[in-house]
Amino acid sequence: MITFRDYYNNEVKLSFQDHPFSQNPKNVWVICRHKGQWLLTKHKERGLEFPGGKVEEGETAKEAAIREVMEETGGIIQEIRYIGQYMVDGRNDTVIKNVYYAKVETLLEQETYYETDGPILLKYIPGKVKLIKKYSFIMKDDVLENCLRYIKKNNLL
Ligand code: GTP
Repeated sequence: MITFRDYYNNEVKLSFQDHPFSQNPKNVWVICRHKGQWLLTKHKERGLEFPGGKVEEGETAKEAAIREVMEETGGIIQEIRYIGQYMVDGRNDTVIKNVYYAKVETLLEQETYYETDGPILLKYIPGKVKLIKKYSFIMKDDVLENCLRYIKKNNLL
């Protein structure tokens, strides 16, 4: 378990164990690759981030992950795996998110990308992402670098 503070100074706990905080988390975040690049979305308010969102009623977290990637990027997933879970102790509530790693085979053009402007492909995630304004706050705590390290260490790329 790794503990740190996020962009808003909320406490975050991250673990690569099997669902350490909740069996039924209400949020998902999906680190995506497409044709050798990172696949992000541009959230209209928050900026560039990996896709994700809330698990809807009657849906599993994995189903939500697949749906959110389609809604926010048009991506059809070829392979997806759970990699970890994190918990943010916010001022008003506690948020628990499953993190997935997904390989996206096709990007379909969508009429709407919901609250985002759609897909963004990047060769590299900048090392200084924390200092770059156009990136979303959810990319600006140690969840991102720990997950990218986990993906590389486990040869998932
Ligand atoms: P909506 O219902 O979509 O409007 O969301 P909300 O603003 O209520 O957000 P949510 O319940 O998803 O999150 C509540 C708070 O938790 C946010 O304001 C953030 O402070 C924090 N939070 C949510 N997701 C993340 C995340 O991925 N990383 C970090 N560090 N904090 C998060």
